[in-house]
Amino acid sequence: MSPQTDPQMSQLTLAEKASLVVGAAFWETVSAGSIRSIMMTDGPHGLRKPIGGGDHLGLGDSVPATCFPPAAGIASSWNPALLERVGAAIGQEALEQGVAVVLGPGVNIKRSPLCGRNFEYFSEDPLVSGELGAAWVRGLQSRGVGASLKHFAANNQETNRMTVSAEVDERTLREIYLPAFERIVTREQPWTVMCSYNRVNGVYASENHWLLTEVLREEWGFEGLVVSDWGAVDERVPALVAGLDLEMPGPQKDSTDAVIDAVTSGELDEAVLDTAVARIRELVDRATGDRATGDRAESRSSVGVSTSSTTGLHHQLAREAAAESMVLLRNEGGILPLATAQSIGVIGEFARTPRIQGAGSSQVIPTRVDTALESIGQLAPVEFAPGYRFDPRVDPAPLIAEAVAVARRSDTVLLFVGLPDGDESEGYDRTHLGLPPAHLALIEAVAQANPRTVVVLTNGGVVSLEPWHDSVPVILETWLLGQAGGSAIADVVFGRVSPSGRLAESIPFRLQDTPSYLNFPGENDVVRYGEGVFVGYRYYETVDLPVRYPFGFGLSYTSFELTDLAASSRGAAVTVTNTGDRAGAHVVQVYVSAPKGELASPRRELRAFAKVALEPGESARVEFDLDDRAFSHWDTRTSSWVMPGGDYLIEVAHSAHDVAASATVTRRSPRPGPLTLDSRIADFLSHPVTGPILARAAGGAAERTEGGTSQLDMVASMPMRRLMRFPGVGSSLSQLPLLIRLANNPVVRGVASLFQRR
Ligand code: BGC
Repeated sequence: MSPQTDPQMSQLTLAEKASLVVGAAFWETVSAGSIRSIMMTDGPHGLRKPIGGGDHLGLGDSVPATCFPPAAGIASSWNPALLERVGAAIGQEALEQGVAVVLGPGVNIKRSPLCGRNFEYFSEDPLVSGELGAAWVRGLQSRGVGASLKHFAANNQETNRMTVSAEVDERTLREIYLPAFERIVTREQPWTVMCSYNRVNGVYASENHWLLTEVLREEWGFEGLVVSDWGAVDERVPALVAGLDLEMPGPQKDSTDAVIDAVTSGELDEAVLDTAVARIRELVDRATGDRATGDRAESRSSVGVSTSSTTGLHHQLAREAAAESMVLLRNEGGILPLATAQSIGVIGEFARTPRIQGAGSSQVIPTRVDTALESIGQLAPVEFAPGYRFDPRVDPAPLIAEAVAVARRSDTVLLFVGLPDGDESEGYDRTHLGLPPAHLALIEAVAQANPRTVVVLTNGGVVSLEPWHDSVPVILETWLLGQAGGSAIADVVFGRVSPSGRLAESIPFRLQDTPSYLNFPGENDVVRYGEGVFVGYRYYETVDLPVRYPFGFGLSYTSFELTDLAASSRGAAVTVTNTGDRAGAHVVQVYVSAPKGELASPRRELRAFAKVALEPGESARVEFDLDDRAFSHWDTRTSSWVMPGGDYLIEVAHSAHDVAASATVTRRSPRPGPLTLDSRIADFLSHPVTGPILARAAGGAAERTEGGTSQLDMVASMPMRRLMRFPGVGSSLSQLPLLIRLANNPVVRGVASLFQRR
């Protein structure tokens, strides 16, 4: 039913409609006519339902909820099935709390490791971000709670996030920054999409018609509602016209008045307002169950503290998720897993006071918190030293001395270091990748005191492992693990669980090596995405720049082999075998390299992956589909995806830098378009009809040297029309228009192709 013929719509006054497209409060939408109010609150790694109204920066109190590992952690699981279960659990808690929409997932690409909010994002790769985000949305929405896919789009830094213009060419947007959104929208239809604060190529995301309407709705078929990030609307009327249905938070009297005035003066077509209101009503209907289950609204409790009987089960799930989120980076001498019959020095305040999540709007009040100190202490004899304080004013020297003494007395040391809370947050970016100086000094001293030192890292964004990497035999990257991180660390350290996390982002040697280094965070409110599509491993692998640990890397307590690759232009299959003596899980990664052509393409790009759990000695055949997009690039001339013909390399790999097997598949070139006088000389020469004729006419100029070049190569890129303007050339090619007509005749062309193939 169109909004114009909808009886419910005609019962609403202009003032009611204008009020509906702006929030009623911090987290609630307006109720008007038969349209009820619903609540939207943060996530996404747990529910943050504020107690008492305001505050979107995580500073106030919220209802206790299960705190799962934030995106940076759980992305390292590379396990969509896990993400789906976590999404469903959060959906369950939201349902119990009367929350209709959970504000997540955040699928922005980690363009630079400095982005202060990287802990809330999944990966530097759009496939990993899209697959994991889609699974989370699927899980959440299976409970009848809506997702809010954010922050759409090109919100890849916190510096000046409300005003900065991300200057990104369209190919880069299409290939890197939009595909995760596209995958989730086209596959899962999230109930809402949240536009970002920033401008995209000069236009605020909230006012970007190309983004919010042409791409999101017309191309991808989005059916839900577009909501603003909290405070992202600059001017309400242009935003409404661009496709921004709901402004949050509210009320904003100036916005409501502006909409009324614009309709009254005829500047705004009321139908545009009606469309936005209709989408709000649809969202409310979905959330309150009017259309679906009818009575679900009544089963919701809208107040109170979570008393869910599932709290314990969800904590267990959080523990499982945390164990899968850790990435074992180094394990010289197989020090891990540890035997319980030894003395363990647990050093570092993080073991006693864990940092379970990042700062800002996503902060959850956990239902409980497991500490590593306690969990490890339940399994082995432990001596603890804090090693540092979070307060930088405290002199570290005596704390380090105490830690060294503990390290000397212990068989093995578990040394907890990382980034304290204030070092990374929503709202600002980091300026360097280093650990705090006190932590660096502690690592040096403890590693000297005990050669069996296991560094356990806590950090949301990538940290540098220099200069200390080689001085310790073991490094376990735990990111931020949520409320059950402490017990999960014990599970991994003592081998109850074999680590199976893989890096969803590269760890560079130096900040200067990162592809966005010269263009981050921009200047004068403009950030130029100068590295184009060469983000993360796409850059390191293409320019052959060593990194400390590549994208996709992670160790296990067992080992895996990939054999018997079979590949075609539709997919690949490979056998994965657990060749060690413990159960474990491996992430099989499939990369595709495009043939060398006109487009500068990354050395390899991840096009499929699967996580496979195997018993010792067990094998599995894993099959991957590769669709046309796996072989396509965005062509700015035709504004469409194109699939160049040629030889593509399919590589199955353990990481972006460790290829186990490869195969070449050939894709036929798509039929070139019809020849015109604007076609290039090269197009004429490769055409089955005109090619042989022109080559003969050119005589010696068409002959190739031993090096494979000919004199014609000099003019190959020249449009025919230009060549004909040269003195004497035009008259000698007077028959060309006739030849072009002939060449474009399908029958003539078909016959000529047959001769060409011979
Ligand atoms: C953040 C969003 C969040 C919203 C509501 C904004 O500052 O960018 O991610 O959902 O606040 O708290």
